[in-house]
Amino acid sequence: MLSFQPPAVGEEEIEAVAETIRSGWLTTAKRSAELEERFSEYLGAKHVLAVSSGTAAMQLALVALGVGPGDEVITTPITWPATANVVVHTGARPVFVDVRPSDLNIDPELAAAAVTKRTRAILPVHLYGQPCDLDPLWALGLPVIEDAAHAVESEYRGRKIGALSDATCFSLYATKNVAAGEGGLVATDRDDVAEGIRDLRLMRRQGGSLYDIAVPGYKANLSDVLAAIALVQLDKLERHRAIRERQFAAYDQAAAELDGIDPLARDARDTHALHLYVVRIDPERAGATRDEYVTLLEEERISTSIHFLPVHTLTAYRRLMPDQPSLPVAERAGSEVLSLPVSPAHSDDDIADVVDALRRVHARLAG
Ligand SMILES: Cc1ncc(COP(=O)(O)O)c(C=O)c1O
Repeated sequence: MLSFQPPAVGEEEIEAVAETIRSGWLTTAKRSAELEERFSEYLGAKHVLAVSSGTAAMQLALVALGVGPGDEVITTPITWPATANVVVHTGARPVFVDVRPSDLNIDPELAAAAVTKRTRAILPVHLYGQPCDLDPLWALGLPVIEDAAHAVESEYRGRKIGALSDATCFSLYATKNVAAGEGGLVATDRDDVAEGIRDLRLMRRQGGSLYDIAVPGYKANLSDVLAAIALVQLDKLERHRAIRERQFAAYDQAAAELDGIDPLARDARDTHALHLYVVRIDPERAGATRDEYVTLLEEERISTSIHFLPVHTLTAYRRLMPDQPSLPVAERAGSEVLSLPVSPAHSDDDIADVVDALRRVHARLAG
C-alpha cells in the first residue's frame, strides 16, 4: 500500500533526538527555546511560543485574547474539528460560515454578515496551504487568530504567514511541513498575547526553586525531544518543498487531462505551502462519487484521505447546534474532496504510480 503522508524523517532526526536525550533534558529547555528563536527569525515574528500541539496553540491564543463564555467566534466548517473544538472549550460559541467554492477557504463576505455584538474573534484557516483572504477579515476590526496548521511556508500577498494577525497558530503534527510528531507554535507581534500564552502554557519561573502562577494555566509546553526533531525539519524546508513542487506539478498535469477531477484553486498572488493536494470529484463528469474513487484507488493500493468533512455535520456539533442552518458549499465540498498522497518521503516513481492508478480508475468509472 502506498501510504498517504509518510513522515519525511531520517538519520539526522534520530541523531538530534539521541543527542537531546543524552543532554538530560526531556522536557522544555534549550531545544524548545532554540526552535522559538529559529521560527521567529524565519517568520519575521516578534514572539514565537512553542506548545504541545496546534490545537493547544489555538486554545491558548483564544484564552490569551480574552475569549470566553457568551462570546462568538466566526470560523469555517471546512477544517479539522480542533479549530471549532477549542472555541467550545473556552465556553464561547463557534459560528460557522460557508466557504468559497474556488479554494474552500472561509468566504469573507459571509464572515462579515455573521458579525454580531457578541463576536469576539475571527478564526480562519489557510486551507491546504492556500492563504485565506485576510484583508476583508482584518477590516472587520476584530481580533484575528489564524489557524496556520497547513501554512508553514505560505505567503499572503508577498508577506509570510506568521505575524500578520493578532496570533498565528502552527501545528508540528507528524504530517505537517515541519513535523515533530506532535507540537505547535503561536507566532505574534503582540507583547500582551505572548505574555498571556507564556503564563497559560506552564507557569512563570521566579528564579531558583521559586515559582508563581499568574493564572490557572494549562499543561501545554513542548518537549525538547520533539523540538529537536522540528529543528532538523526546519533545516530541510527548502529541500522538502522542491520535492512537493514536483509532486504538485505531476498531479496538476494529470488532473488537467481527467474530466471531473478538479484541483482546488491556488491564488497566483500568494505562495501556497503545498501541504495537501486536494481535488474535487464531480460525480457527473467523473462518472462516480468521491467514495467510489476512494474504494477503487484502495484496490489499486493507493491510500487517500479526506480534508475535510464539514465540522457542523459531525455528531458533536449536530448535538451542540441543532439549529445550525445548512452551509451548501461546504456540504457539497465535503462529499467531493479527495486528498492525494504528498510527502517528501515519496519518490517521483511513487507519485507516477498514483497518477497511473488514478488514470486507470478514471477510465473505468468515467468511461
Ligand atoms: C486545519 C487544522 N487545524 C488544526 C489542526 C490541529 O493541529 P494538532 O494536530 O497539532 O493539534 C490540524 C491538524 O492536524 C489541522 O489540519
